[in-house]
Amino acid sequence: MKRALFALAALAALSAPALADQALATAKNCMACHAVDKKLVGPSYKDVAAKYAGQKDAVNRLAVKIVKGGAGVWGPVPMPANAQVSDAEAQKLAAWVLSQK
Ligand code: HEC
Repeated sequence: MKRALFALAALAALSAPALADQALATAKNCMACHAVDKKLVGPSYKDVAAKYAGQKDAVNRLAVKIVKGGAGVWGPVPMPANAQVSDAEAQKLAAWVLSQK
């Protein structure tokens, strides 16, 4: 019994990071305009990840854009500033977005 519980806990720990970041994106209202694999108001996170694949400074650049908002990369519709997101959370979210394949 103890061993089974331990295995479960280990599994939960392994899958937690991805889920935690999606939960963060949901909590911060990102998913109102974005989906992982289809365009809504904003680009899908898979499209964003593909566009910036291999660019080293992408996490920092996207983190700034997530907090401040901006327009013109994906079309005329702007992303409003997300003032409810801290810099640390923006870094986490940007890294999570870029990890979508
Ligand atoms: C009101 C709708 C809306 C909300 C809420 C929103 N976005 Fe966006 N997002 C957009 C639009 C529209 C664009 C495209 C902007 C452009 O073309 O430059 C975008 C672009 C992006 C990009 C790509 C930026 C680039 O320059 O390529 C990322 C990453 C992103 N959003 C992440 C997030 C995250 C994380 C959140 C939650 C904190 C969020 N968005 C909340 C509408 C939204």
